Amino acid sequence: MRSNSCGELRTSDIGANVQLCGWVDRRRDHGGVIFIDLRDRTGTTQITVDPDKGQALFRIAEKLRNESVIYVSGEIRSRPTDAINSKLATGNIELLAEKIEVLNSVTNSLPFSVSSHDDESVKEEIRLRHRYLDLRKERMQNNLKLRHQTIKSARKYLENQEFIEVETPILTRSTPEGARDYLVPSRVCGGESFALPQSPQLFKQLLMVGGLERYYQVARCFRDEDLRSDRQPEFTQLDIEMSFMSQEEILELNEQLITFIWKEIKGIKLKTPFPRMTWQEAMNNYGTDRPDTRYGLKLIDTSDLLIDSGFKVFSNAIASGGCVKCINIPQGNEKISNVRIKPGGDIFTEAQKAGAGGLAFIRVREGNEIDTIGAIKDNLNDSEKKQLLKKTNASAGDLLLFGAGTSAIVNRTLDRVRQFIAKDLGLIPKAFSKAQWNFVWVIDFPMFEENSEEKRLEALHHPFCAPNASDIGEDKNLWKEKLPTARAQAYDLVLNGLEIGGGSLRIHNPELQKEVLKTIGLPPKEAQKQFGFLIEALATGAPPHGGIAYGLDRLVMLLTNEDSIRDTIAFPKTQQARCLMTQAPDQVDEKQFKELHIKSTWVDQNSLNGDE
Ligand code: AMO
Repeated sequence: MRSNSCGELRTSDIGANVQLCGWVDRRRDHGGVIFIDLRDRTGTTQITVDPDKGQALFRIAEKLRNESVIYVSGEIRSRPTDAINSKLATGNIELLAEKIEVLNSVTNSLPFSVSSHDDESVKEEIRLRHRYLDLRKERMQNNLKLRHQTIKSARKYLENQEFIEVETPILTRSTPEGARDYLVPSRVCGGESFALPQSPQLFKQLLMVGGLERYYQVARCFRDEDLRSDRQPEFTQLDIEMSFMSQEEILELNEQLITFIWKEIKGIKLKTPFPRMTWQEAMNNYGTDRPDTRYGLKLIDTSDLLIDSGFKVFSNAIASGGCVKCINIPQGNEKISNVRIKPGGDIFTEAQKAGAGGLAFIRVREGNEIDTIGAIKDNLNDSEKKQLLKKTNASAGDLLLFGAGTSAIVNRTLDRVRQFIAKDLGLIPKAFSKAQWNFVWVIDFPMFEENSEEKRLEALHHPFCAPNASDIGEDKNLWKEKLPTARAQAYDLVLNGLEIGGGSLRIHNPELQKEVLKTIGLPPKEAQKQFGFLIEALATGAPPHGGIAYGLDRLVMLLTNEDSIRDTIAFPKTQQARCLMTQAPDQVDEKQFKELHIKSTWVDQNSLNGDE
């Protein structure tokens, strides 16, 4: 149908007869001549419709609505000097139309304009409802192209390193990654359900047992969890597993993979090795296991100085096993007013949202005088004040913000406050500056964390991570005792405060795997039922192996400088895990439920309220 694309014609094509197809981006009537910007995925070409070429042609052009799909043929000619558009790749030429055919006209009114000339901001809800139209926009076109290039580039690197792509099942049994499963009831095996994979974790390990040695997959994963801007119920991992590699070798290979992608996609040469930080260091200094290292404002533990403080909020928190930590905001006195850090203020509210009861603060004045409001000032003695200033490296003009309570709440609070203030004070390097790409490996995670509700340990990553050999020793009899406090040979790759990937070396000893499952409170019978196939496989000569999975949507979000992974996915779900375009999920026929041997217990809350 077409000889060229709309973005490729240049002055060298002047005189050529071409045929183009595309969408009417916009139409302008200029005193008898009509101009059409014809758009396809490569760009736009200006079509000029001259009444001299015939009334029939002109009448078609006159009636064209934006987003109609047309075929145009004619000759390429140079634009008059005063009509040259240097911002456009095709800005020196235009197509003088001989023939226009409407391939499909727009019959409904459009919910929003596609043209980049109309800079309207469209509500995300409307964009998602009409995603096919939104996809025509330059932004989504660019994002999806970049997503494709990222996958292509990862494939190129991995295949050069002898990795092979293998697909793993979607209808499977639960693969524990910490979220709820999406279930698929079986019609044939009544009363039983498949679970959609939260990740291909167990299959990729079994591929290693199966002797594949180097595997990768662009894998769809499903997790029923609370959604955020960087979480979707259905997302894509770049999933990798390899045999006979040490942790050090795996990290190095992954640094090469990431540098390869950044070089190909952004033309940026990243510095390797990426910095490394233990989980403990990350928690101590940033209060989170995904530290944003683009700016300072590190957390400072002041518990040892304030353990006997007369200010009871501090000393009581420490006495009951918690801590007091603070952030020093250099010259914060000028930048942050009391109103913002007192109840009702925006910074105070951030702290509250993280679970803090309050946010104590100290202002350092001229001559290093400490200025506070209320109880702290009167209850800090001179030595405490002096030591505080020393430990926090504070001087005149600085503002100290304190969190006191359990370590978990203090860390969560100050992490949130730190990020909020960094954004507020403009401390984060601007997008696409070189300083923007702050990678850090977080290593040495604990194997387990306490599930305080269920009063048991649970795996911090998943229960297949290998413990640090020196933490558990070789004596099997001591594993039970040593495992709960052992570190895992696990690593997360964090970029600008976002976890973009995570992995570990795996347990390849069946006895150790059983012990770890016991440690998370899984009775042996249940462990056998759920993971018997894995333990059996590990006993057939499993090689030492390990791997990683990247959140592909997150990688692309960072590469495109978007704020949400929804803008990197063609057809994403909303925060309520709903597809606004197809209106899925939806009710199904009673007959379908019956075939699946299930009965819904759902009660519509609205109808209940209506009855009252
Ligand atoms: P993990 O659970 O850390 O590890 O997942 C790996 C990466 O996947 C991304 N991710 C998500 N992206 C979008 N929406 C979600 N709901 C979501 N959940 C996770 C994150 C994360 O770093 N099997 C292990 C990997 C391994 O050990 O090899 C796993 O799935 O970027």
